[in-house]
Parts: sequence; structure tokens; C-alpha cells
Amino acid sequence: MNILLIGSGGREHALAWKISQSSLCDTLFIAPGNGGTQELGEHIKLDVEDHVGVVALCKLQNIQLVVVGPEIPLVDGLADPLRAAGIAVFGPSKAASQLEGSKAFTKELCDRMNIPTAGYGHFTNHAEARKYVEAQGAPIVIKADGLAAGKGVTVAMNLDDALAAIDDCFDGAFGEAGAEVVVEEFLTGEEASMFFLCDGTDAIAFGTAQDHKRVGDGDTGPNTGGMGAYSPAPILDDATQKRVMDEMVLPTLQGMSEMGAPFSGVLFAGLMIKDGTPKLIEYNVRFGDPECQVLMMRLQSDIVPLLLACDQGGLAKAKVEWSSDFALTVVMATNGYPATYIKGSQIKGLSATANKKSHVFHAGTQRLDNLIQAVGGRVLNVTAIGKNATEAQTNAYKMVDRIDWPEGFCRRDIGWRAVERES
Ligand code: AMP
Ligand code: GLY
Repeated sequence: MNILLIGSGGREHALAWKISQSSLCDTLFIAPGNGGTQELGEHIKLDVEDHVGVVALCKLQNIQLVVVGPEIPLVDGLADPLRAAGIAVFGPSKAASQLEGSKAFTKELCDRMNIPTAGYGHFTNHAEARKYVEAQGAPIVIKADGLAAGKGVTVAMNLDDALAAIDDCFDGAFGEAGAEVVVEEFLTGEEASMFFLCDGTDAIAFGTAQDHKRVGDGDTGPNTGGMGAYSPAPILDDATQKRVMDEMVLPTLQGMSEMGAPFSGVLFAGLMIKDGTPKLIEYNVRFGDPECQVLMMRLQSDIVPLLLACDQGGLAKAKVEWSSDFALTVVMATNGYPATYIKGSQIKGLSATANKKSHVFHAGTQRLDNLIQAVGGRVLNVTAIGKNATEAQTNAYKMVDRIDWPEGFCRRDIGWRAVERES
């Protein structure tokens, strides 16, 4: 079958790499793709906001499955007209995408279904939000309700910062996303992520990972989209994974079905774990980036039947095989990221990284003839496997050190928690 993959990040390079290995995949179209995806499929220009145009392209190219990588087109409802036209989609409907598109929606679902999460208040009124924060005190967490490209969350350690964050939201710092605000109890513990493939009624566990959100070594500096990740996450032992499935994911699927918005696609649970007890921080309705890169390195099964089953049902019978290896990815970003950075620097030495135990997934790159240029903040995902976290980390940094890119940087401590546990 012909497949269309939407997106341009490291997540989409990793998905394209797995999808293109499937015997079910004839032509893989990628819109828009990046400097690394070109060799895996056919790049096409597509305005993903033009839903009628996307459906027309799928008809024209006989595309039978559309895989949506990022959250924005999902929250925008791209899956609905595709499904209405009889095209299979990996990704939830507009209604079900509210699990990521509105933090208040998810908190209300948690209330209704008794899903363990931080206590909260939901406000559309500036003065009431301030009053609540003053009564609760710090530390406290302020969240713009809608999508804010990962920037809408302030973990405030004192009252002044909390009130300033409330003011920012209501003064329009996050546009429409901040017109409603969720104020949450501050949770402590260790963060980890767990992924589930869902077909509306059933869910299967689809791997665990830990991300590194801060830009600097030792988890310092501003938040980013993610500077590296590894899988599996040792803190998510079998018993904790079962609790996440039973206490969060199955009630979520039930609650979504009850409201006529069954969830299909991948459900990404961001968790805080303390003394073996998981609480839900947030849901995302797509794979994590860079978490997807480490999951794809470990996935042994053909991914295409799994993506199709999410749309068409029957996931409960699906078998998923994973490598017992550890996978770890180091994000290389352009100097200056997550603030301003230059575009157009040249990356050399990538051919020295090709081997069986590692893979460099591209994100913000473009290919000009045989040159690779950096055109984004997060640019490369240098990914390696090993028999444990320590070995995967060593292998990944060996590859990083072969890349000749003076305008780039990376953290040198990706995987530190897992490596510490091993030593
Ligand atoms: P989110 O965009 O909701 O994942 O939040 C971004 C980051 O803020 C999370 O990865 C956590 O590190 C932190 N965070 C979010 N909510 C809470 C909370 N209730 N307590 C403590 N930290 C939080
Ligand atoms: N790496 C975090 C995310 O994709 O949301």
C-alpha cells in the first residue's frame, strides 16, 4: 500500500525508517520530511491545514494510510475528513485529540474516571486564578490550557513567579492557548513516559522512555522539546506499568468512548512516579520526540500492521516484539537553542556514523546535493543501542564525536539516571 507520513522531525525520520522496512509499504510519501528522510521515501509539498487538499492528494496517489507525526494537525482535526473519505489514519480524531489539545479537558476526564493526577483548578477569569494561587501558595504549576509548543507550563517555586505566570497567560503570552488556565498541585518524584497503541477500545503497551527536557547537563537551564532520551525507563517496572494501564489508560479509553470520542493512535502518558505510585502529568496524542527514536530502534515487529490496527481495530490480538537492548539518543542542536540560532551551517562526518548499532535520525536538516545543512534548533538525533544503558550511552557519544559540526552542541549526560542505577 501507499503510505503518507506527515511531519519533519526526528520522530518522523525514525517512523519513516521503520515504515519503509515494511513489506506492506509500496511508496512512502513524506510531507515535508527533512534532510534524512529523502532516501526513505518521496518528499511531497503539502499544506496540512488544507484538509480538502490532503484528501485529494491521497486519492490521487492511491494512499491508503496516513500517519500523522505531530500534534498540531491532529488537534486541528486532519484525521476526520481523511476517515470520512475511507482512508485509514494513524492518529486520533479532532474530538479525541483534546486529550493533548486541552489540559482542562484531560483534568476533567481524570476527575470523572478517578485517574490519579495532580489536584487542580481551572480558570477563565484572571482575578479568580490569582486568588486561587495566593490561597494555595508555592510551589505550584501554572499551565496554559491549549497547545503552546511546550512553552505553556511554568513550575513556580515561589508565589511571585506563579502570579507572573498567571498574568502572562491572561495577558496573551500564549495567544488563545492561554485564555484558559489550569493551576496544578506541584508533584515530586521521577518523571518517565509510557506509550500505548489504542484502537478505540483496546490498548497495548508500546514501550517506556525517559526524556531530558532541560538544555544543560545536570538538568539545568531552560526547557526544550527534549535533548535526549532512552528506552526502556527502568523506573517503570512491570508492576508500575500495569498500574498505568489499569488506573489510567483503560479508564481513559472507556471515558472517551462514553463521550462519543473513542481514542485511536498512540497515547503518550507523561508520568510522575513516587514510591512506586504513578500519577498522570499529561497526555500527548502522538509519539514523543525524541522518545520515538529510541522506541523505533528497539522495535522488532513490522510497524505497519500495528498502525493499521489502531485505525481498524483488532489491536488486542497484536503481538509486539522488542529487542532486549537498551537504546539511547543524544540530540545535537544548533548553538543558541532553545533561544535564537543561526541557520545554514554545514554538518560533516555523518558517513562515519553508519553502522548496525547506531543510527543518526535527522530533525532540522536539509540536503543540498550531497551537503547536509542545519536549518532548525534540534538538528540530529544520534541514536545507539547497547546491552545496557552504560553501553548504549558510550556507543551514542562515540558517534557524536565523529560528527564534524562546530555550530552544534549536545548534552554530555543523556541517560544519567539509568547509568547511575547500573553503577
Ligand atoms: P507538560 O507540558 O504538562 O508535560 O509539563 C512540562 C513539564 O513541567 C513536565 O515534564 C514536568 O517536568 C513539569 N510539570 C508539569 N506538571 C507538573 C506538576 N503538576 N508537578 C510538577 N511538575 C510538573
Ligand atoms: N519529548 C517530549 C515530547 O515529545 O513531548
